[in-house]
Amino acid sequence: MIVLMKIGFFDSGMGGTTILNVVKKVLPDEDYFYIADSKNCPYGEKSEDELWRIVDGNTQRLIDWGARIIVVACNTATVHCIKKLREKYPEIKFVGTEPAIRLAAKMDVKKILVLATPATVASERAAELRDKYQKPGQEIRFLGCPGLADTIERTLRFSDYHALAPTKSEKQKICKVLNGLLLGLDFEPEVVVLGCTHYPLVKALIQEYFRDAVLIDGSAGVVKMVKMLAEKVGE
Ligand code: DGL
Repeated sequence: MIVLMKIGFFDSGMGGTTILNVVKKVLPDEDYFYIADSKNCPYGEKSEDELWRIVDGNTQRLIDWGARIIVVACNTATVHCIKKLREKYPEIKFVGTEPAIRLAAKMDVKKILVLATPATVASERAAELRDKYQKPGQEIRFLGCPGLADTIERTLRFSDYHALAPTKSEKQKICKVLNGLLLGLDFEPEVVVLGCTHYPLVKALIQEYFRDAVLIDGSAGVVKMVKMLAEKVGE
């Protein structure tokens, strides 16, 4: 008998599908649950207590549905809540999504820009990752992006964006926010870390602001970890 692994995902909307889609390519046959919690978007602009209440609620639902592996497909929820989740639910295997600072710092570059939600940028974990992986001569700069995840969620949630290119008006709405955040930035990064799972959905638009930079995200690390756990839990 083949028993499918139940793997749960959640995010403040469709951002976490950028992780889910990559995981499904590697593990196509497992049983997936996905909570697109757009009602509570943006997570990155919530208080610590409110975020924990939301994240804990999503986790409970996924456990009730039978998930044994839970992917926190959100950088904000990971950096603020994953330790507490692991303490509260020791029987569940949690995989977090963190800004790919380690990957960026390993590259032979000097200037790295991390785009993330205000809550991720303000987290202790973000500073910890920078202090741990920044090499001598490297500068890792964080830029909190209020309004960006929320605008991506509201603009693209019901669009055909995955099948087609964004429409002109969708592009305009998102670029209005990006202009406010990125025009006039006095930093020319060689690598831009997309430290929020919503941002890869508009990677092509962000690339227009950083034409010479390499854009990376944290999905590869998540996939590796989920694959390893699925093999272990499934034994
Ligand atoms: N997609 C999430 C992240 O990776 C949260 C975005 C938000 O709701 O602020 O941080």
